[in-house]
Amino acid sequence: MRIVRAHDYDDMSRKAANIISAQVTLKPDSVLGLATGSTPLGIYAQLIEWYEKGDLDFSQVSTFNLDEYRGLAHDDPQSYHHFMRANFFDRINIDPANTHVPDGSNLDAEGVCAAYDRSVADAGYPDLQLLGIGRNGHVGFNEPGAVFSKGTYCVDLTPSTIEANSRLFDRVEDVPRQAYTMGVQTIMFARSVLVVASGEEKADAVRAMCLGPVDPQCPASILQLHAACTVIADEAALCKMPA
Ligand code: PGA
Repeated sequence: MRIVRAHDYDDMSRKAANIISAQVTLKPDSVLGLATGSTPLGIYAQLIEWYEKGDLDFSQVSTFNLDEYRGLAHDDPQSYHHFMRANFFDRINIDPANTHVPDGSNLDAEGVCAAYDRSVADAGYPDLQLLGIGRNGHVGFNEPGAVFSKGTYCVDLTPSTIEANSRLFDRVEDVPRQAYTMGVQTIMFARSVLVVASGEEKADAVRAMCLGPVDPQCPASILQLHAACTVIADEAALCKMPA
């Protein structure tokens, strides 16, 4: 695990965007694993800026997102389909047919998850998987206690995740209780992994991910065993790490 210290959120975003930019420039048909949440927003904004300047071309890139709420239509403003279009896909020259997000509008959990696993495998798994980390150490929606050997599956969200995500909904009751998520196994199949973290509320999770035992109670801790995992975190998120 390589840990990169960023000064602040903007520095973290720029450093992470640099790595993604290098990936796409060196391999124009890269498969990118992408994440939603607040943390990657600065990365997407930076990549859009470089695309607009003519420095990046996404025309051959394909993407697989980590997760989606079960039961939300693709055009629901709270869906991750919508999030990705609004914050990234609609603003670059990616072919929408090459973007993949688990189909939350389909309640057939087994069918959705099996189809998603097949399409990730057919694409050869991500060259680079971008990940945020939850305050409880989750990655994607793999919550504490997740089984490491699973592919995509339907998960019951924990109260802590529902509470954390409720900031984006009008009422906590509106947060879906289930989601489809790539499993830890699928995440570990990516050739490289880039974890980003910002803010003191992530400091315990970052410490457990990097220094704790490899334990399903902190799903991100498995990344210690990945051959090419880079963590880019700002000073606040690293405040519980040794200097
Ligand atoms: P955040 O979410 O980027 O909104 O903090 C990260 C996560 O829960 O994986």
